[in-house]
Amino acid sequence: MSDRLMTRRSVLLGAVGLAGAAATGGAWLATSQDPAAGDARILASSDAVRRAEQLRLDRGTGRTVRATMTAEQAEVDLGGRVVSTWAYNGQVPGPVLRCTAGDQLQVDLRNRLPESTTVHWHGLRLRNDMDGVPQLTQSPVGTGQTMRYSFTAPDPGTYWFHPHMGLQRERGLFAPLIIDDPREAGGYDVEFVVVLDDWIDGAGATPDQVLETLRQGDAMARYSVPVQAGEIPDQSQSWQYHATQGMTNPPGGMPADSPASRLADSIDFPFYLLNGRLPTAPQSFEAKPGQRARIRLINAAGATVFRVALGGHQLTVTHTDGFPVEPITVGTLQIASGERYDLLVTLGDGVFPLVAVAEGKGAQALGLVRTASGPVPSPTAAPAELAGRLLAYTDLRATAEVRVPTRTPDATHTVYLTGDMMSFAWRINAETYNHRRPFSGITPLPIQQGQRVRLALINQTPMYHPMHVHGHSFVIRSVGEVFSDAPATAVTAGAIKDTLQVAPGERIDVDFTADNPGQWLTHCHNAYHMATGMATILSYLTP
Ligand code: C2O
Ligand code: CU
Repeated sequence: MSDRLMTRRSVLLGAVGLAGAAATGGAWLATSQDPAAGDARILASSDAVRRAEQLRLDRGTGRTVRATMTAEQAEVDLGGRVVSTWAYNGQVPGPVLRCTAGDQLQVDLRNRLPESTTVHWHGLRLRNDMDGVPQLTQSPVGTGQTMRYSFTAPDPGTYWFHPHMGLQRERGLFAPLIIDDPREAGGYDVEFVVVLDDWIDGAGATPDQVLETLRQGDAMARYSVPVQAGEIPDQSQSWQYHATQGMTNPPGGMPADSPASRLADSIDFPFYLLNGRLPTAPQSFEAKPGQRARIRLINAAGATVFRVALGGHQLTVTHTDGFPVEPITVGTLQIASGERYDLLVTLGDGVFPLVAVAEGKGAQALGLVRTASGPVPSPTAAPAELAGRLLAYTDLRATAEVRVPTRTPDATHTVYLTGDMMSFAWRINAETYNHRRPFSGITPLPIQQGQRVRLALINQTPMYHPMHVHGHSFVIRSVGEVFSDAPATAVTAGAIKDTLQVAPGERIDVDFTADNPGQWLTHCHNAYHMATGMATILSYLTP
C-alpha cells in the first residue's frame, strides 16, 4: 500500500514538480485555501499528508477514542464570581481529553459560537490537515457547523487544545489533552492536571477590547476590577516577593523595575486562575501523606508567565512539552504561555499552597494540595520555595530514550522577533502574518523533508516572546545574549520542546528534523502578539 502511494507520488512529482522547480527553484506545497493554489506548478499538500499519516499508522494501537466538543457561550463560575464567556461543553477549562499514544483521536467540534472557529492540538506532531490553522490547513468551521478532527495521537505526554481564530482562546476555550504512554512504568500514585490562566473575559472587557486598547498606544493596559465575592484584601505579599526575589532573579536577567521589564508585561488582568478558580475559592487536590503526585502543569494564559511553587515541597521536573527529561529537582520554575511541565512530588502531611505567581503583575493563581486537615493557606500565600532554585532551560536534558544524535543542520533559519511597542504591532523578520491570507504578507521559511533544520530565535524587542512551532518538537541547542560578548551556553542533549520563552535580547537556537510534510505555523504564543501578526510559516517545498 505505501509502495503504491510512494510510486504515485513520485510520478506526480516527476511530471509537475520538476517543471515547478525549473521555474521557481521549488514550489510551495499548498492547500486549497492558498491563494496560489490555482498555480499548476504547486503540488497540493494532500499527498504529503497522506504519506506522513501512512508512516505513523505503523505505530497505531487500532483503538479509536471519540469525543464531542461543543464550543458555546456559557456562564461560568470562577468561584463566587460568574462570568459570561465562551467555553467547550460549558466548562473552563474544557473537559480533559485522554487517550494512549497510537490511538486514533476522533473529536467532533460543534460550533455554537457566533463566529467561525477551529481547534489546534497544541504540541502534537499530527497530520497537517488536522492542525487547525485557519486558511493555512483548513477552512474555518462556521456557526452551526460541525467538523470531525481525526488523527493518530503520536507521542505520549501533556498537551492541550484551543481555537486558532482571533482571540478566542483568550476566552474560556481551552482544555488539557493527556496522551498516556503504554510503556511507562508510572512511579506515581495520584495525578493532578493543573491549568493556569489569566482572565478578563466578562470581567471588565473582552479580549478584543483589550487588543484595541493596546493598539491605540496604551502600552500598559490595566484592567484590575474589584473582586466581588471573597475579595483579596492585600496583594502586598506578592508585590514584596516581586520586588525582592524578582530583582535578584528576574526572568531573563533583567532588573524587575527597569522600564524594559515593565514592558515585559503589558496587560494587568483582573484575575489569575488555576483550573478556572480564583485564589479565594481554590480547587483542592486530595491525596494521602507520602503519596507520589504527578503534577501536569499547562499554561493556557494569553500573556502571563507564571512562577510556580508548592509550599513545603521541592519540585522534580520529569517532562516538558510532553517529552521526558532527566529528573531535576528545583524550588520553583517559570512557565510561559503554551508550555507544559510534568512534576513529581512526594507529598507531606497537611494542606499546602500550590502557587502560580503572575510575573510582574503583583497577583497570583492558587490551588491547594490536601493530605490531611490543617490550617488553610491564604489566597496570597507566598511559600519560601518561590525564592528557591529556579529552573533554567540550560538545566534540562532529554532522557537517553528520546535523545536524537547531534547532527549538523542542513539549513539554518534566522527568526528575528521584531515589532513596535507603541502601535502594538508584533512581527517575525519584520513581516506581518495575515491570518486571512497566510502567504500574502510573509516570506515562508522553506524546508525540505528529511533536513535537519536549525531555527535561531533572536529577540530584538523589549518584550518576552513564548515561541511555538506547530507539527514538530525541537531540541534546545544553545542559549545566549545578543548584546553580550559572553559566548552562548551550548546545551548537550537539550530538552525536546515545542514552546519556549525568548527573553529580551536573548538568542536561543533550536533544531528539529523535517519529518512531517505540510505548512506549519510558527508563532509567538502571546495571544495578543499573535493576533497582530507575529507568526510565520515553516513551509515544506516539493522535493
Ligand atoms: Cu497553542 Cu499555534 O498554538
Ligand atoms: Cu510575543
